[in-house]
Amino acid sequence: MILPIYLYGQQVLRKETEDVSRDYPELKQLVANMFKTMYHADGVGLAAPQVGLSLRIFVVDGSVMGDDFPECKGFRRAMINPDIIECSEEKIALEEGCLSIPGIHEKVSRPAKIRIKYMDENWNEHEEEIDGFAARIVQHEYEHLEGHVFIDNISPIRKQLNKGKLNNIIKGTANCSYRTKAVGK
Ligand code: CO
Repeated sequence: MILPIYLYGQQVLRKETEDVSRDYPELKQLVANMFKTMYHADGVGLAAPQVGLSLRIFVVDGSVMGDDFPECKGFRRAMINPDIIECSEEKIALEEGCLSIPGIHEKVSRPAKIRIKYMDENWNEHEEEIDGFAARIVQHEYEHLEGHVFIDNISPIRKQLNKGKLNNIIKGTANCSYRTKAVGK
């Protein structure tokens, strides 16, 4: 099932999420729906708050970026109750976007490499070192679980320049090819 994507301005994107419990009903169905929703919107990552759920879970698939970023080839994961346990000191700034903030792309500086622990949808535990653009995708989604979005990291001037677009997103008048839930609609 394709779920509507909650847009910038929605309170759920600002809430800190809760751990998914082992007896969460139909976890696999939720993960499948999140992947479907992400692919339908041509995204490379989607976090639970973006479909209105305040839970520590996100899905990523960087495969479409594999030509430019080989580390993204086959990088498809569902991460449940993730914990970033290490970040490199080296940082890299690259342009990002977000399905909850359509039409806005800005450069964000992030650690080049991370180590993360998480459970998959079968409750198997993983610990992984991730670098390159794959590390960026994971950090972007992880940030959603903390109630942050990528434009929180840009300068006040850049934010000011995007103010009109942000207001349109909040009003529900921004152009978007997928199903969304805006505050104003
Ligand atoms: Co996002």
